[in-house]
Amino acid sequence: MTAFAFNSTSSILVGAGNINQLADQCANLGITKALIVTDAGIVSLGLHKAALESFNRAGLPCCVYSDVEADPTEGIVDTCLSYARSENIDGVIGLGGGSSMDVAKLIAVLKGSNQPLSEMYGIDQLKGKRLPLIQVPTTAGTGSEVTPISIITTGETTKAGIVSSQLLPDLALLDPMLTIGLPSHVTAATGIDAMVHAIEAYTSKIKKNPYSDMLAREALALLSANIEVAVKQGSNIEARAAMMLGATMAGQAFANAPVAAVHALAYPLGGHFHIPHGLSNSLVLPHVMRFNVSSVAGLYAELAPIIAPSISEKGIDDEKISENIIAYMEGLIADLGLPATLKSTGIEADHLPMLASAAMEQQRLLQNNPREVKLEDALSIYQAAFE
Ligand SMILES: NC(=O)c1ccc[n+]([C@@H]2O[C@H](COP(=O)([O-])OP(=O)(O)OC[C@H]3O[C@@H](n4cnc5c(N)ncnc54)[C@H](O)[C@@H]3O)[C@@H](O)[C@H]2O)c1
Ligand SMILES: [Fe+2]
Repeated sequence: MTAFAFNSTSSILVGAGNINQLADQCANLGITKALIVTDAGIVSLGLHKAALESFNRAGLPCCVYSDVEADPTEGIVDTCLSYARSENIDGVIGLGGGSSMDVAKLIAVLKGSNQPLSEMYGIDQLKGKRLPLIQVPTTAGTGSEVTPISIITTGETTKAGIVSSQLLPDLALLDPMLTIGLPSHVTAATGIDAMVHAIEAYTSKIKKNPYSDMLAREALALLSANIEVAVKQGSNIEARAAMMLGATMAGQAFANAPVAAVHALAYPLGGHFHIPHGLSNSLVLPHVMRFNVSSVAGLYAELAPIIAPSISEKGIDDEKISENIIAYMEGLIADLGLPATLKSTGIEADHLPMLASAAMEQQRLLQNNPREVKLEDALSIYQAAFE
């Protein structure tokens, strides 16, 4: 067996109503004043209230920073850090989707560190320890609660990742009740993002390993069986719980067997056209899968019965099974009501060469792709996704 490493969040609590024990969990970690990092949407829905009530009951001080925006910028990290320093907090909670959780991770590191944010990008560049950190996801998508990654918008159009083991939180607190009100289009896009994490982890070129495989398969089983119900019957708590657990398992998988060309081609769509992360992935997924078939048809064929138990595999080869599963994913994306073409999101044909060049800058991700992606390949994939 090839040598490998597997790391994850050391404690994961799963259960409806878990949010009510947030303050107790903070106290267990020795936190005496907590900062909740979240966004205005979460606050306007009142999703932070149960958390605040738990702090009141426990008599533990807590303050809230709620100005995180989707695809958070360095400026947001800076203002949140100033607030954290002015309040002299000693523990951080990320409450929200990937955007809030990614900012929370960095605040937990930056609060006690003199290292500038600009020196943290890349792999294992972080110096110093972090404050106690709890992540509470409110989308079933990014898996940020179990990844050592924070994704920050670094310029007008670019995103960059900070990858370091210090960014794994002490605790991921999963409460599916928090996702009951997630709008259907966000449920769909973030759910496809989670499925992409599992698919890309399972086909990841360099670090794929038995644990990541096991988690990717189980994640896909949960996500595939529940995504349509979660999108169409948002208050179905069983479906919401399965999606949340599936997204976390997919996060554990790709934290150790990293994502590849789907994400590399998705990031420029977010950077240049502000297309949400999950939808960006959904738009390019079938086309990157088609490009990869010649390298990983056998692996796609292994995933096919997990994703779509109804698809018959009898008497057909792995390439044909792969084609069927890609067509199934296209049908699922359409059924969930997500746009299927770049054109329908306002992107023009003239933009594609620029997007292909931007995708080539994501070498951190492209090196994990099972088939080498050259500039002309990235352009062909965008052209296939265009209309
Ligand atoms: N750290 C990682 O490992 C990792 C992995 C993938 C993506 N990301 C990053 O995560 C970000 C995307 O995160 P996301 O897709 O979770 O979305 P998000 O955090 O950007 O939130 C999107 C919107 O959904 C709303 N929302 C969140 N939860 C809700 C709820 N329960 N009910 C109603 N509305 C709710 C938010 O208010 C926000 O307006 C991107 O910046 C992406 O780059 C990080
Ligand atoms: Fe993702």
